[in-house]
This record gives sequence, C-alpha cells and structure tokens, in this order.
Amino acid sequence: MRKKRQIISIIAATSVVILYQFIHVLFIGEFSIKDFMLDLFLTIILFWFIAKHYDKMKFYMERMEESEKNYKILIETIPDAILIYSQNIIVYTNEAGTNMLGGQKKEDILGKSIYHFINPQYHELAKKRLEKLRKKEKLINHVEQKIVRLDQKNIFVEVSTRLIIFEGKESIFSIFKDVTNKKEETEGLLQKSEKLALVGQLAAGIAHEIRNPLTSIKGFIQLFKAKYKSDEVHFNLVLAELERINLIVSEFLVLAKPTAVEYKDKEIKILLNDVVTLINTHAIMNNVQIIVEFESEISTIVCEENQLKQVFINILKNSIEAMPNGGIIDIKVKAIEKDTISISFIDQGTGIPEDRIPKLGEPFYTTKEKGTGLGLMTSYKIIENHDGRLKISSKINEGTKVEVILPRVPSELY
Ligand SMILES: Nc1ncnc2c1ncn2[C@@H]1O[C@H](COP(=O)(O)OP(=O)(O)OP(=O)(O)O)[C@@H](O)[C@H]1O
Ligand SMILES: [Mg+2]
Repeated sequence: MRKKRQIISIIAATSVVILYQFIHVLFIGEFSIKDFMLDLFLTIILFWFIAKHYDKMKFYMERMEESEKNYKILIETIPDAILIYSQNIIVYTNEAGTNMLGGQKKEDILGKSIYHFINPQYHELAKKRLEKLRKKEKLINHVEQKIVRLDQKNIFVEVSTRLIIFEGKESIFSIFKDVTNKKEETEGLLQKSEKLALVGQLAAGIAHEIRNPLTSIKGFIQLFKAKYKSDEVHFNLVLAELERINLIVSEFLVLAKPTAVEYKDKEIKILLNDVVTLINTHAIMNNVQIIVEFESEISTIVCEENQLKQVFINILKNSIEAMPNGGIIDIKVKAIEKDTISISFIDQGTGIPEDRIPKLGEPFYTTKEKGTGLGLMTSYKIIENHDGRLKISSKINEGTKVEVILPRVPSELY
C-alpha cells in the first residue's frame, strides 16, 4: 500500500513538473536542470505528503463506518428494548423495542409519540424527567414506568435515559427493561409474607393464651390421678391428649419470630436419622419405605433441633399422605458449594398441579379433608429463620421433590 502510494506520487509529481517545465520552456525559452530537479524533488514530497494523509483519512473513515455498523448490529441484537425519540416522536427502535411495544414491524412503532406508549399515570413523571434531561441535569437511572403496548396490555419497565445527537438532531435515547415478571413475583412474595406475618401473630397470641390454662389443667389432672388410683388409665389418656394439645400449640408458637429458641451446632446425619426413626412406624403402616442417602461427608449445621425436626416431619408426612398405595421416599443429602447443604425429599406420590405450586405455604391451603394447611407454612417460616430456602417441584402422577437448602458450618472449623 505504502509502495503503491510512493510510486503514484512520484509518477504524478514527475508528470506535473515535466508539464510545467514544458510550458515554461515553450513560453520563456529557458531550461535549467537544477530548477527542474529542485521542482521535481519538492513536488514529489508534496504529493507524497498529500497521498499519505489521504490514505490515513480513508483508513479512519473506513474504521468509523465499520464501528458504526458494529454499533448498529449491537443495538439491534441487544435483548433490552432501545428507543430513540426526537421531540417526543419515536425515530428509532430496535427489534426488542418493537416486540416490547407489541409491534409486528418497526413501522408500527416509528413516527408515534412516546406518550402513546406511556401509561397516563406516568405521563407527569416522564415529562419531568425529559425536562430535566433537556436542562442537562443528572437523571436517576432505572426508573420504573408503566407501558401500554399496542395490544393494550400493561407492562412494567425500568428505564434509563440519555440525551444524544441522532441524525443531526438532539434526541433522547432510552433503554427499557421489562420487569413485569419480577414485580409480580415480588408482589406475590410480599402478599404471602404479609399473610404469614398476620397469621403468625394471631397464632402466637392464641397459643400463648391456651398454654397457660393447659398447664393448670395438667397439674389438676395429675393431682386427680394420684387421688383416684382406680381410674389411672383414663387419667393417663387425658394426660396424653393434653400433651398432644400442648404439642400442637407449640407448633403454632413457631410462627411468631423465635425469641427463646436456641440455635446449636448439630450433625445433619444424626438429626435426619432421629426423624426417620420417629416417623418410620407410621411410614411402614402406610407401605412406605424411607431411604436416606448421604452424598457428601458428614455436615454440621447451626439449627434449632426441634424446629428442624418438625419441618422434616411435615415434609415426610405430606409425602406419605401423597402415596395412598405406598411407595418409596428418597432422602438425598448433599453439599452444594462450600457453605450450603441440600436435603431433598423425593416421593412417588400424586404430585401437585403446576398452577397450585405458588399456593404452597399459604396459610390454610390444603387439599386434604383433615388437613390444616399449616404444615408447609410453618416449614417455610422455620427454614427462613434458619437463613435457608425451601423449594418444591412436582410432576402430576410422578411425584414431588421438596428441597431444603441450609447454610452449613465450614468443615475446617471442625
Ligand atoms: N409431597 C406432596 N405431594 C403432593 N401434594 C403435596 C405434597 N406436599 C404438599 N402437598 C400439597 O400441599 C398442600 C399443603 O400442604 P401442608 O403440609 O401445608 O398442609 P396439609 O398437609 O394439607 O395439612 P397438615 O400438614 O396441616 O396436615 C397439601 O394439602 C397437598 O395438597
Ligand atoms: Mg402437611
């Protein structure tokens, strides 16, 4: 390339100088070899210099065109919606933008006012932001807005905006992120936790009130038992029933934020074996076999032992109840990452319809005639108090997997 430029500039310079000398000799009649050489030398340098800069300019122009092309491809393929509008009229949209606004093709969107797509409740906010932007004030990014699509569906978006020059005009560049799903999810969770908190407070209040008279009734029954020895069997029955009420009431108390609960280090293997021993008779009576598999080395967790046992019993009880003709429950314990442990309970039961899964954990949601619909809610609460997570996945007629993920004590501490 450089060589070609040098040759062209030498040929062009020589031709110009020869032509000049020819005209000079023709009209003035003098010829000096010295002048000719000097002119030739200077003209070659001049031509070479011009050619060099022309090449450079061409190179940068090509680079610019290339990067403009790349930017266009990037903006077109980016998953977030991008709109550019000038005097409120949309002059550019990428493919994601067209889809977000419910258009089939870009022409459905281009030329329309941006306010056509902003929900009227958000017009004022949008106007204020655009005014600020025009005054070159700094704007907060990721602001929430409600968009009305062409099919009249409302969606929530997070928008970030900048002032740019587009096709020679001052324009506004906005990136939109659809957050409808995230928002609905958060609202659902909020509603769920509000309901939980309310029921929790109620339950804790009632449980507290019931516990006190229970203690005195128990005391009197023990007294009567000692006095009327012949009826000992019946008194024992009453005492056992009272104990059961006490247990149920204690279960309710868990709903309130734990105050007096004591978190201690506990070996998960020992805890699970205790639970299986406790529930195994019930399982065998229902033709259910429980198999426990430990995929990782023994792990220690910090927990309130009785509460965690209650969670595992609730889950196992649900699994047994979901297999009226018997079956197998697999309990798999494995370490995930350095600091968490996963305990999965996999049954071969009736399964849960997909649309019912979000309902699990809601107070009083039950499909059982004698169920209270509080088992999973209590379990969610306990696991939450342990900084863990409870995940349920299920397939109709195949079974259900309930996974409890808990933080574990790093083994190097032992
Ligand atoms: N392993 C499972 N298989 C199929 N359905 C399940 C399973 N676990 C829970 N469910 C469904 O979730 C509902 C709620 O469970 P939850 O334990 O909260 O209450 P319950 O079992 O109905 O009543 P309770 O636990 O108070 O006896 C159940 O009624 C059942 O429909
Ligand atoms: Mg249950």
